[in-house]
Amino acid sequence: MGRIICCGLGPGDPDLMSVRADREIRAAKHVAYFRKKGRPGQARCIVEGLLARDAREYPMEYPVTTELPFDGTDYTSMLAHFYDHWAQRLSEIAREADVIVLCEGDPFFYGSFMHLHSRLQGRVAIEVIAGIPGMAGCWNAVGAPIALGDDVMTVVMGTLAEEELTRRACGCDALVVMKTGRNLQKVRRALEAAGRLDGAWLIERGTMPGQRVARLKDVDAAECPYFAIVLVHGRGRRPEFVAE
Ligand SMILES: C[S@@+](CC[C@H](N)C(=O)[O-])C[C@H]1O[C@@H](n2cnc3c(N)ncnc32)[C@H](O)[C@@H]1O
Repeated sequence: MGRIICCGLGPGDPDLMSVRADREIRAAKHVAYFRKKGRPGQARCIVEGLLARDAREYPMEYPVTTELPFDGTDYTSMLAHFYDHWAQRLSEIAREADVIVLCEGDPFFYGSFMHLHSRLQGRVAIEVIAGIPGMAGCWNAVGAPIALGDDVMTVVMGTLAEEELTRRACGCDALVVMKTGRNLQKVRRALEAAGRLDGAWLIERGTMPGQRVARLKDVDAAECPYFAIVLVHGRGRRPEFVAE
């Protein structure tokens, strides 16, 4: 009986993957990863050059990503079917051999793997290898501490309603906004309303090729990639501290 081993790959730079993940990936005979149709997949890109020549690959292509509203029943049922299918398929392969599932960042932090993880409980042995979350790569790219002293750090999804984003931005010290991409304008308006725009940074493709770090107020953002995070740094007990 094999295992399903989900390897957190870190924020993008392959050098930021754990030694353990690197070892498992190089030895893998079966490697699965999520991707959007027609794209190579970010997780697969991170391990480029690491896979054994005889490794079998299983691209798990989302049936839908942004084409349908994510709170609609069509979207939910298509994805449920997709995850059911891959949970079954991977557990069949794992009867014979270990299967590696690649996941950018940390698998348990807003990762798609958790939809397989819940379906695979009791069916197969599962291991999850922690990864550095994308946001850690992003605040490292800015080069300033994200949270100090008694700071309360809030992590929100850019998909939230504008009023909710504003409310959360008002009620925290350090702020991380994930899934910024197509929500950038909304995020920007929410931060402005909360009086946090001046301290906000936009990090696109943190630690990846093409990384971009900019003050959000200076970004004329019509386009923003999927891999983008907005950060507002906390100031801890140092009110004079501002990320420069
Ligand atoms: C579905 S979540 C997956 C998070 C991942 N499991 C992690 O630990 O970071 C995808 C979102 O993470 C953020 N993200 C992850 N890595 C990133 C990076 N290197 N640079 C910018 N944003 C990143 C983006 O906001 C993206 O929309």
